[in-house]
Amino acid sequence: MRAMIFDLDGVLVDTAHFHYQAWKRLAREWFDMDLTPEDNERFKGVNREACMHMLCEMADVNLERARFEQGMALKNAWYVNLVNGMTPADVLPGARAFVERQKQAGVLCAIGSASKNCSLVLERTGLQGLFDAVSDGTVVTRAKPDPEVFVTAARMLQVLPARCVVFEDAQAGIEAARAGGMRCCAIGQPHNLQGYDWIFPSLQAAGSFFDDLRST
Ligand code: BG6
Ligand code: MG
Repeated sequence: MRAMIFDLDGVLVDTAHFHYQAWKRLAREWFDMDLTPEDNERFKGVNREACMHMLCEMADVNLERARFEQGMALKNAWYVNLVNGMTPADVLPGARAFVERQKQAGVLCAIGSASKNCSLVLERTGLQGLFDAVSDGTVVTRAKPDPEVFVTAARMLQVLPARCVVFEDAQAGIEAARAGGMRCCAIGQPHNLQGYDWIFPSLQAAGSFFDDLRST
C-alpha cells in the first residue's frame, strides 16, 4: 500500500446530507416529488449532471437543455449556500487525524471526488494543503462508476493502481475503485453497500486496522 485515495463527500466531510437537502428541494419544487434517503443512496458519488438525469428519469420528465441546466444551477446554488456555512468542525470525526497519520507513515494521500465544489469544501473545512494530489470534478469528465477520477489520482501520485486503497461511502465509488484495479475500503453500513474489500462505519473506526495493515 503506497497510496490512499479519499472520496470527499461523506468520507472526509459531512456534506452528503447537504447534497441530499438540495436535490430534495429541487425534486419537491420542480416535480412535486418526495426524494427519500433510499433514492439518495443512488445519487451519492455520482456527478451533478448524472444526478440531474436520474432525477428527471424518476420524475418521468424530459427537460430541454436550458431548463435542465437551470435545475443543476439552482441545486448547486442551494448546495454552495450550505457549504459556505461550513467550518473545520464539519470534518468527520477522526478524518483529519487519520490522513495525517498515514502521511507521517509515508503513505501518499489524494482526493478522488466527483465534486466541482471540492476546493471550496476543502478551503471551508481547513483541509486544503493536506493532500498530495486532488483529482476532482474539475479535472475529470466521466462519472463514477467510471474509474477515471481514481485512475487520475493514482497517476498524479505516480503510484500503480494495485498499490492504492480507495475510501468510499458510495456504491458508484466502490465500483469505480474496483474498475480501476484498486482495493476499496467502504465507509458506511453493510446493508447499503457491496463489493468492497473492507468496511468501517467511519475513518475513525478504520484507524487501527490500517495502522496494523501498514506495519505488516
Ligand atoms: C459527490 C457527491 O462527491 O459529488 C454527489 O457524493 C455529488 O452527491 C457529486 O452529486 C457532484 O458534486 P458537485 O459539488 O459537483 O455538484
Ligand atoms: Mg461520497
